[in-house]
Amino acid sequence: MTVIRDKTIWVTGASSGIGRALALRLAEQNNFVIASSRGRDALAELQQSCPKRIRILDCDVGDDEQMEQAAARLAEMTDHLDLVIACAGTCEYDDNLQLDTASYRRVFDANYFGVVNTLRSALPLLANSRTPVFAAVGSLSSVVGFPRAEAYGASKAALGYFLDAVRADACRTNLRVVHIRPGFIDTPLTQRNDFDMPFLMTADQAAECIERGLASKKHTIDFPRRLSWPLRFLGFFRSLWFRYCAPRMTRIRTLRKT
Ligand SMILES: NC(=O)c1ccc[n+]([C@@H]2O[C@H](COP(=O)([O-])OP(=O)(O)OC[C@H]3O[C@@H](n4cnc5c(N)ncnc54)[C@H](OP(=O)(O)O)[C@@H]3O)[C@@H](O)[C@H]2O)c1
Repeated sequence: MTVIRDKTIWVTGASSGIGRALALRLAEQNNFVIASSRGRDALAELQQSCPKRIRILDCDVGDDEQMEQAAARLAEMTDHLDLVIACAGTCEYDDNLQLDTASYRRVFDANYFGVVNTLRSALPLLANSRTPVFAAVGSLSSVVGFPRAEAYGASKAALGYFLDAVRADACRTNLRVVHIRPGFIDTPLTQRNDFDMPFLMTADQAAECIERGLASKKHTIDFPRRLSWPLRFLGFFRSLWFRYCAPRMTRIRTLRKT
């Protein structure tokens, strides 16, 4: 398998789950990795595993001001970035169609505006690379409308459109834009789930799929195939999804009156 080596890479969401597995894997392959999340302690612990090749940049990707400062700190650490993986993200489910906009905003701040902020901070340094790649982690849940995922799925669908638009804007430049859409991965994010998660993978397996996809020059990295193919089929024949799948999944039987 082709591996990514000797690159300068920024990974957000690197303190746990998929981002942590990616940061470690890439650092072990002789890349210089800048690892971000809000929690400094978890990042410091990650850095201990590979002190020479991991640097810490703590920031809240949803906070515009902090991300302006992060851009300045990034520029002190490196004069270029070859690869950025925007992995920071969160999930809040909407139970019983509460439509709580504060919850939706928190989710969009991390999953959508967080990626916009990450690209803004990284772009001048990506421009200094000969082969710049900007990758962001969406979700297979954005392929069809899942019950309770109004905020999460919509933030990831918006991210997909954003990445397509950036790719269109940058198509005459050397910037490669990559949309990563995992299925269910066993991380602190999903350990809270109280439903069956088909084809659950480990964070290490996810990191391997992502690295393989990045190395093979793909623009969309969907995995596992056992989940992505049926979902893409149902995304195409949407009436089947709403007739046969959604009724088995929704927890709502009657609309709330208050
Ligand atoms: N697990 C899955 O099944 C799955 C499936 C599809 C897509 N994804 C996506 O994969 C990405 C990683 O998720 P995960 O499963 O690895 O979850 P995780 O273990 O909870 O990791 C989330 C990471 O994002 C960071 N983060 C969250 N909000 C942030 C913010 N506002 N600013 C900076 N960092 C922030 C967290 O660190 P701090 O809290 O310290 O900031 C943590 O490092 C997410 O975008 C998620 O939507 C996950």
